[in-house]
Amino acid sequence: MNREMIVCDNVSKTFETSRGNVDVIGNVSLTVHENELLVLFGPGQCGKSTLLNCMSGLETVTSGSVTINGKVIDSPGPDRGVVYQRTALFPWLTVMGNVEYGPKVRGMSKSERREKAQYYINLVGLEGFEDSYPNQLSGGMQQRVGIARAYCNEPDVLFMDEPFGHLDAQTRYLMQEDLIRIWEKEKRTVVFVTNNIEEAIYLADRIAVLTNCPTSVKTEYGISLGRPRNYVDPEFLRLREEISSVVDKAL
Ligand SMILES: Nc1ncnc2c1ncn2[C@@H]1O[C@H](COP(=O)(O)OP(=O)(O)OP(=O)(O)O)[C@@H](O)[C@H]1O
Ligand SMILES: [Mg+2]
Repeated sequence: MNREMIVCDNVSKTFETSRGNVDVIGNVSLTVHENELLVLFGPGQCGKSTLLNCMSGLETVTSGSVTINGKVIDSPGPDRGVVYQRTALFPWLTVMGNVEYGPKVRGMSKSERREKAQYYINLVGLEGFEDSYPNQLSGGMQQRVGIARAYCNEPDVLFMDEPFGHLDAQTRYLMQEDLIRIWEKEKRTVVFVTNNIEEAIYLADRIAVLTNCPTSVKTEYGISLGRPRNYVDPEFLRLREEISSVVDKAL
């Protein structure tokens, strides 16, 4: 196994609201290894996004700590890429403009960043759409732009929060296949949130099953099936049964 990259050590998170304190993360200890694809799988509203945001630095933890490569995470940074369910692309920028945005603001020369952006645009299958605007693209294509944009910053870690959650089933399968293809070509440490069991088993090296809120890690499964995976493979179906039986019902 590769070296430890992200370490959540006894992480808890309580939101203070006008209606009192809300404990969202109970006590999470979790390690993600370099180039691992870890899936956080749990019921709706269990605290998946909050945990992911604590790992990416968008939220601060109430107690415990998150470290990446030994450095304590308490704010966002360019070494961490994020892709959300609805990726906020800049509507006034083209596909190229969106993908090259990160390197541009960091001062990379035009020729260098164009070359890099083109590489990632091609990687996600959007060659020929460089000059299109986001509203001219389908939902799946917009998520591809989001993935290319995140990759173009060359982050150490990619955090993905149900990135395919609002896509139709067919597009979702295609995106899952493509994500694996991209990740196998350009290995990164990925933390991927989903509440879809098939998606979890299709993608993951390891699945951390989360409990209902305040969430903690109920159990972990290493998934050793070869890739590309087959949704109707007997072992796939067996894992699906097994993991479905341990996950809490959504509240
Ligand atoms: N900023 C906040 N202030 C107060 N409560 C919050 C805040 N953010 C999240 N929560 C609460 O924490 C709980 C978990 O939310 P979170 O979005 O992390 O769960 P989730 O598992 O990602 O949900 P979903 O399945 O809808 O994506 C919810 O009850 C939510 O209301
Ligand atoms: Mg969420």
